[in-house]
Amino acid sequence: MRPRKKTNLQPRLAACASIIIQNPLEKKGLLRQEFPHPEAPLHLEIGCGKGQFARALAALHPDINFIAMEREPNVAVIATEHALADGLPNLRFLLEDAEKLPLMFQPEELDQIYINFCDPWHKHRQFKRRLTYRGKLEVYLKLLKPGGELHFKTDNYMLYHFSTFEFGAVFPAYFTTKDLHHSQYAQENIMTEYETYFSNLGQPIYSIRAKKPVSAQTPEPSPEKQ
Ligand SMILES: C[S@@+](CC[C@H](N)C(=O)[O-])C[C@H]1O[C@@H](n2cnc3c(N)ncnc32)[C@H](O)[C@@H]1O
Repeated sequence: MRPRKKTNLQPRLAACASIIIQNPLEKKGLLRQEFPHPEAPLHLEIGCGKGQFARALAALHPDINFIAMEREPNVAVIATEHALADGLPNLRFLLEDAEKLPLMFQPEELDQIYINFCDPWHKHRQFKRRLTYRGKLEVYLKLLKPGGELHFKTDNYMLYHFSTFEFGAVFPAYFTTKDLHHSQYAQENIMTEYETYFSNLGQPIYSIRAKKPVSAQTPEPSPEKQ
């Protein structure tokens, strides 16, 4: 569903320009320079929506730089306005499509990637559009540092089930659960807007976590299933 057009979208985005990365396609490999401490670890959220998750994480971890990516400006404007009010120096926004990630980041630049409640693209013929399709996971894997992690959450069982196969083909998960809120990661979990909505309806939250191998010789942790 297309989000409603916001009134005064352009002036409102312009007012947030200081926290929106400008001309990112001309800054490949340099996006960390947008932060006061460019040497800090760099985490990316793909499809941040209204930004609740990224804002909470950035407030909790001032020693980590966060980039929240959202392709829909009518949604991103809400996130950037809230973040501007927060004044967090370690959170910046990227108003781009994830398709363009390889044009903005160098291989092994990212320490962590989050994908939360992405569109399930229900029709089978649309499976390549899912953000956890193996072709896209291969891109994320390349952009992650060795030892870097990808964390995925969804309310959609079909997407979770599909994603377990896709992760398995690219980089095996060390953690999968059909009930994140009653798992070992429940306490540290930060809720997104969609997660709040679906868990208030009593729906379980599915999650997958995978780690890029440090080297071919390093054994990976055995999968924990919950
Ligand atoms: C269902 S919403 C979930 C928002 C938020 N992550 C949450 O959990 O509340 C998915 C968001 O991802 C964005 N999105 C989908 N595909 C994207 C892509 N390829 N690149 C960037 N953003 C994307 C959509 O515009 C939408 O705002």
